[in-house]
Amino acid sequence: MPAISASAPGKVILFGEHAVVYGRPAIAVPVGEVRAKAIITADPLSPPDSVRIQSPTTGIDAMLADLPVNHPLAAVVLNVKSALNVPHLPACKIRITSTIPVASGLGSSAAVSVAIIRALSTFLGISLMNEQVSQIAFEVEKLHHGTPSGIDNTVIAYNMPVYYTSGRPTERFAIGIPITLVIADSGISSPTAHTVADVNRAWKEDPQRFEAMFNNIGEIVRAARDAIEAGRIEELGALMNENHKILVQMGVSSPELEDLIAAARGAGALGAKLCGGGRGGNMIALAGQQDIARITRALISAGAAGTISTQIGQ
Ligand code: PMV
Repeated sequence: MPAISASAPGKVILFGEHAVVYGRPAIAVPVGEVRAKAIITADPLSPPDSVRIQSPTTGIDAMLADLPVNHPLAAVVLNVKSALNVPHLPACKIRITSTIPVASGLGSSAAVSVAIIRALSTFLGISLMNEQVSQIAFEVEKLHHGTPSGIDNTVIAYNMPVYYTSGRPTERFAIGIPITLVIADSGISSPTAHTVADVNRAWKEDPQRFEAMFNNIGEIVRAARDAIEAGRIEELGALMNENHKILVQMGVSSPELEDLIAAARGAGALGAKLCGGGRGGNMIALAGQQDIARITRALISAGAAGTISTQIGQ
């Protein structure tokens, strides 16, 4: 049997991170320039359930049975097995590779899960709907992040721009004119669980202030959807700046992210903000096509560890 492989894109949150954990809407888009990949090779000589998991980027090479059941890589395999009602897995090796930076707001954990879920279900000869893939990945996201909103697994499983509100059906929307983003990595790894926990602590201390900020973000997200659908790019940039201002007030930016955001704006970005959990990880800048190279240079000189440019809705 030939090897079976599946891949899944990274993602960025354009608007609404953190507030989405508290029931407000958010907008996220896939980023196909970085991907996680799972390759499954059958091992017909070994007994059923001999599943070897290799992830060279995270230094894991172990048998499924030797990993704790709540290890995210073991959990994704076990969750697929139980969701598909498969009593035994055929012996195999699952090799995972990824070009998505870890703990940096680009959805690496959800992309790894989605790649494994798709490869494993194909290996088992069962086809899954996007929503099922998303649900299985969501269970694993809980092991990574504690209380995920579900936006990462949704945008990555559906592989399309989404307007997401926790507990509601995922909405797709039209992209009026293509949106060009330059994404820059601060080089600082910042686990989402930490910033989410900090925001939660601060929200409990001052619920009124945080609820007001979440409401403002909700309004920005709704306005951003209208601006995207109508192709009003300049307005979209201004909304990014507004959203970022509130994230700063929430305490999830960092000096390094602020330097990158200032550099992008100074080089002509129409708007810029941190994306994802914050404190490190990545920021995004909205760019005119003609400004990509200039903004990229400015971000590198301001200390970006890496940049990606991507177009949404081309
Ligand atoms: O850091 P990321 O890309 O996993 O994004 C986290 C987004 C949050 O809203 C902060 C958390 C969540 O679960 O939605």
